Amino acid sequence: MATDSVGAPLRVGVIGLGYAGNVHTRGYQKIPGVEVVALAGLEDDRLRDMGAEYGILNLYHDWQDLLARDDLDAVSVCTPNFLHAPIAEAALGRGLHVLTEKPMARTTEEAEGMVRAAVKARRVLQTAFNHRQRGDVQTLRRFIDEGVLGRVYYARATWMRRHGIPGLGSWFTSKELAGGGPLIDLGVHVLDQALYLMGEPEIVTVSASTYAEFGPRGRGMRRFGNPKMITGSGFEVEDFATAFMRTADGGTLTLEASWAVEGDYRDDFGVLLYGTEGGAKIDVKVYGWEDTLEIFTTQAGSPVTVRPASVKGGGHDAVTASFVETIRSGDWSAHTGLEGLKRVRIIEACYASAREGREVFLGEK
Ligand SMILES: NC(=O)c1ccc[n+]([C@@H]2O[C@H](COP(=O)([O-])OP(=O)(O)OC[C@H]3O[C@@H](n4cnc5c(N)ncnc54)[C@H](O)[C@@H]3O)[C@@H](O)[C@H]2O)c1
Repeated sequence: MATDSVGAPLRVGVIGLGYAGNVHTRGYQKIPGVEVVALAGLEDDRLRDMGAEYGILNLYHDWQDLLARDDLDAVSVCTPNFLHAPIAEAALGRGLHVLTEKPMARTTEEAEGMVRAAVKARRVLQTAFNHRQRGDVQTLRRFIDEGVLGRVYYARATWMRRHGIPGLGSWFTSKELAGGGPLIDLGVHVLDQALYLMGEPEIVTVSASTYAEFGPRGRGMRRFGNPKMITGSGFEVEDFATAFMRTADGGTLTLEASWAVEGDYRDDFGVLLYGTEGGAKIDVKVYGWEDTLEIFTTQAGSPVTVRPASVKGGGHDAVTASFVETIRSGDWSAHTGLEGLKRVRIIEACYASAREGREVFLGEK
């Protein structure tokens, strides 16, 4: 570990060279006093190209070799999901702060091991929830904080792609390497948004179903997007998931996520909230950010719809900035990965419920 103190230059390594590795690298390079000193990834051509593009000299094929450096303060883990836990635990064991991509891990067991490693190492462990940093989510959160919605008792979170399977034969469609399909890939983003907007209620039960109707027939593939790491796996995960959850304070959260469904979608996500004083809707088409938020209240007896000015928000730049800010604050004890673990536990309970065809109580073994 190179530096610990507030204000000193921060030296970061990025592991993974896909979409995620690129946005993390760009995010860090925008922050004064942060240097991305090393990259790791399996594709030699991408490694060379990214090294040249971002001016990074230390390039590694294996993540273990990157972690063996003795001048790093932090790493971003931007690899397929099955590597998040082993890389994070090894990095924390070397005294580094860790930012993992979402989902934090494939299973609760893995995520709990990561949290234990962060607590033991007394280092920061965070998960990248970039869509929470959107302008519409942040604006709505301020309305909620001012009491405009009252007590929020219902949320519906959805991320729906019509033809959006991210590459048959890539790690994304392997149960072993990804942990699941759209529920763990996309659902975790909107689950995060809903929990954040609802004020982090505890989820006590989940009841879910999953389907694999298109992937196994080679249909529903995404025709655009970044090429993903190919592993030769078949289609082993769901292509649609739906879940109903109860919160400890009597609220309800429903979650739907699809990579492939014959519905009126392209690549659309959002959250709908009902509260005792008002409702709200974030409705995003194909990653747009303008005119996505509406708030519904009653004033002087009349229904009123408020459309706040659109703000783009920060995305991954805000994620890396907040990670660096947390490290620099020196106050690390509240950042040991518990938020990511909570989301992994809920997703895992959804898969268990779907597999067993019954409602699952969180906390059950
Ligand atoms: N937050 C977001 O918006 C967002 C978007 C896309 C992906 N992600 C997440 O980011 C992660 C990566 O996704 P992606 O789309 O960039 O995948 P990808 O397949 O494009 O890239 C994966 C990278 O990991 C590298 N890698 C795999 N095994 C390795 C090893 N043993 N040592 C070193 N490097 C290794 C590969 O070489 C590749 O460069 C996933 O967890 C995914 O869920 C998040």
